[in-house]
Amino acid sequence: MKKLTVVVGLIAAMGVAFAAPDEAKLRASMKQIGPVCSGLGKKLKAKDASGAADAKQLAGLFGDTQKYFKEAKADDGVAHSKTAIAEFKTTSKLIAAGKWDEADAGFKKATASCSGCHSKHREKASDGSWKVK
Ligand code: HEC
Repeated sequence: MKKLTVVVGLIAAMGVAFAAPDEAKLRASMKQIGPVCSGLGKKLKAKDASGAADAKQLAGLFGDTQKYFKEAKADDGVAHSKTAIAEFKTTSKLIAAGKWDEADAGFKKATASCSGCHSKHREKASDGSWKVK
């Protein structure tokens, strides 16, 4: 059943790839963003300077999210994406400069965008997977 849903979903996704916002791409970014973000949280606690690269990577990963919500014409989603991009960029610079307290604050602002967007645009499907709303 799940396989069938995936196949049908893929066919549908191919059909609308050029016409509608790319939900599969958004999902793929989110699946990357999740672990990198929690890893960055741990690195900040440990004052591990390699977190600068993770924060930079996160800023980059939100490009697809911003594009998605632009195409979906959801301004609040675009705004949350912009906040995430700006704050992760700032956090990266602060880590590189060894300003850990400020970096923590930047990380908090960046991650506030996660819940801000999820509470409005993310929905749990009956099979436990996530979907966009
Ligand atoms: C502008 C909107 C937006 C922002 C900001 C955002 N997300 Fe998401 N996220 C979504 C949507 C929509 C989904 C559901 C899509 C999906 O997963 O199929 C999602 C799904 C996820 C998932 C589940 C992925 C899966 O399908 O297994 C994770 C994990 C996740 N987000 C992490 C994060 C983290 C961490 C942040 C902040 C650093 C963040 N997201 C910020 C919109 C957003």
